[in-house]
Amino acid sequence: MAAEAALQAGHLIRQYAGRLDKENFRAKGKQDLVTFVDEEAQRIIVDVLTRAFPDFDVLGEEGADLTTMQPVADGYRWIIDPIDGTTNFLHGAPPYAVSIGLQREDEIVAGVVLDVARNELFTAVRGGGLFVNGVRAGVSRTDSLHDSLITTGFPYRTLEHLGAYMEVLAALMVRTRGVRRPGSAAVDLAYVAAGRYDGFFETGLMPWDVAAGQLLIEEGGGRVTDYENRPNPTFSGHLLASNGLIHDEMLEIIGPMRDFARTQEA
Ligand code: IPD
Ligand code: CA
Ligand code: CA
Repeated sequence: MAAEAALQAGHLIRQYAGRLDKENFRAKGKQDLVTFVDEEAQRIIVDVLTRAFPDFDVLGEEGADLTTMQPVADGYRWIIDPIDGTTNFLHGAPPYAVSIGLQREDEIVAGVVLDVARNELFTAVRGGGLFVNGVRAGVSRTDSLHDSLITTGFPYRTLEHLGAYMEVLAALMVRTRGVRRPGSAAVDLAYVAAGRYDGFFETGLMPWDVAAGQLLIEEGGGRVTDYENRPNPTFSGHLLASNGLIHDEMLEIIGPMRDFARTQEA
């Protein structure tokens, strides 16, 4: 059902990608944009899901109340990002995605990410493995940072951690095969899950950016933690994902970002 909801929203998103002008979006914050397509896509998704599961709760990005957001769900809850990568969507520059996770109490039990432009659907149910367009998939076997392709999200909403971030980025540029910033955290995670990227990290993430993707990685055989190596980072705000084999090396290299996160949590 989550796949069906994502595909229906994807149909709408595809029609408008790169075709909206200035009148059609507004800024939620600096560099944080929202369009009527985000809102309409969320409406479609919520409609499909609540018709099938009327008792499940919903946490959707559009209209979410950050002050009452609880990390543990009372029963089942859908966690929805109707368009992950709105800036890319506006510019008609893929990737942009639909991300839907299903949380049961404190864990994610199902996840769907639709890479809209490529029409690739990444799906997982806890304990059932990862599928890409219905075909079984999994993380890479790269076992050293040196041979790894890493993906990340640049700081943009707030820039206090820019200095620490640049330090980590510089170290990764020296020690890896390459670093990418595609612009959709959900797709970054889906690609780590499917073995295309070897690792990912970002600070400032929201639960709807990562809920689905983190399960995809776990079911693809990888590892997802926060910067402190704690599992289940949906509500942590910082996330480190990898194929598992390079996780310790990644944990070491993101030290300056971990130090910054500690100052925020203190
Ligand atoms: C954003 C994208 C981006 C990531 C940001 C997210 P949005 O989602 O995933 O890649 O760097 O942290 O907020 O705002 O386009 O839904
Ligand atoms: Ca997002
Ligand atoms: Ca979004």
